[in-house]
Amino acid sequence: MPKNELRIGLIGLGQVCAAVHHPGLSRIPGVKIVGLCETDEMLLARRRKEWGIKAGYTDIDEFLKTVKPDAVSVSVPNVYHHDLVLKVIEAGCHVLCEKPLGMDVPETVDMYEAARSAGVRHMTAFTYRFVPGMQYLKSLVDKGALGEIRHARFQRLQDWGEASIGWRQYKHMAATGELGDMGIHRLDFAENLLGPIKAVTASSKQVVQRDHTAAGEPCEPQDVEDWVAWIAEFESGATGVFEMGKLTKGHGPGGDHDTCELNGSKASAGYQLHSPHTILMASPGKKYRRRTVPEAFLKRPGSPRNPAEGDPMQIFRYDQAWEFVSAIREGRDCLPSFYHGMRAQVVAEAIVEAAATRRWVNVPTWTKGKQK
Ligand SMILES: NC(=O)c1ccc[n+]([C@@H]2O[C@H](COP(=O)([O-])OP(=O)(O)OC[C@H]3O[C@@H](n4cnc5c(N)ncnc54)[C@H](O)[C@@H]3O)[C@@H](O)[C@H]2O)c1
Repeated sequence: MPKNELRIGLIGLGQVCAAVHHPGLSRIPGVKIVGLCETDEMLLARRRKEWGIKAGYTDIDEFLKTVKPDAVSVSVPNVYHHDLVLKVIEAGCHVLCEKPLGMDVPETVDMYEAARSAGVRHMTAFTYRFVPGMQYLKSLVDKGALGEIRHARFQRLQDWGEASIGWRQYKHMAATGELGDMGIHRLDFAENLLGPIKAVTASSKQVVQRDHTAAGEPCEPQDVEDWVAWIAEFESGATGVFEMGKLTKGHGPGGDHDTCELNGSKASAGYQLHSPHTILMASPGKKYRRRTVPEAFLKRPGSPRNPAEGDPMQIFRYDQAWEFVSAIREGRDCLPSFYHGMRAQVVAEAIVEAAATRRWVNVPTWTKGKQK
């Protein structure tokens, strides 16, 4: 084994592992994917073959004991994040965990505190922070190019159809629907751009039953929301309007709508996922114009990917793996860490409460005192 080789294990080999974690991690020089853990035996066998990895386990304890990875990615349904991550931390592994970090705030606090006291690197997979347009937008906000941000709007509109969407449609597996699936990313990048959210009011709705599979077989109906919207007041004084929906026809595959628009005292600017290498920018009295994202923001410094290769709406996701590995190698905190996963969960729970009680809810401030 070469000196300084980082031995990484993958836990949960479904959609996001195959699309993001495996390609992101396996292209990094000095990283070796040393083992796989997946409860679905057929999928495990398929991935071992596809990826040429011998060590494959269906049981996490056996996997950790035998493979002894230095670090892992955890991409299993939300309900399993907490228990698996605690085992991984106990085994001394650095950990990249999917979002939402946990099912509720106490789970995320547990995970964050366990990782910190074990001294392992911890990261929440808030992938959209790595979109080139988002990175450029953040740099413009930070250097004051937009002035004081007054209002902002965030939309994630998609069409997932009306059939079952698997574990994601059940509270006992996912905790929430569109809020934890798409909304939590937008909470994270909204706070990354504009600072802490102080209060929210919200509405959510389960629009369809999803009581059949795509093949027409009956299944247990869903019990989570397909649509959620909220208004947020930021501590800075800015106001944000958010809307997420899985049933917005016209925003189907390839046309997925993901925007964030910031209106400042000097200028407005917007990020759009479907055009990740440009942003929209407008100065007072002028219409929006497209501005190309400068080369410095097209990928994370040192990242082994070529921004000109592959689908730009997908490949930025590999920089998440680069951040995880770089933080481990450099002995620094990952960004975003479990702190940010916990913080987003705190705001998400305020949104759930606001929607249920139909009123404004103050976001608890206790996470602010915690170290990142
Ligand atoms: N960051 C992002 O952009 C993004 C995108 C998609 C999904 N996700 C998140 O990733 C996670 C997984 O989502 P997905 O779409 O890949 O789901 P998926 O259903 O495609 O895959 C999950 C896999 O985990 C396996 N699994 C379940 N329990 C396990 C256990 N105890 N040990 C090992 N494997 C186990 C399942 O068999 C399944 O193959 C979720 O938390 C989801 O919210 C994040």
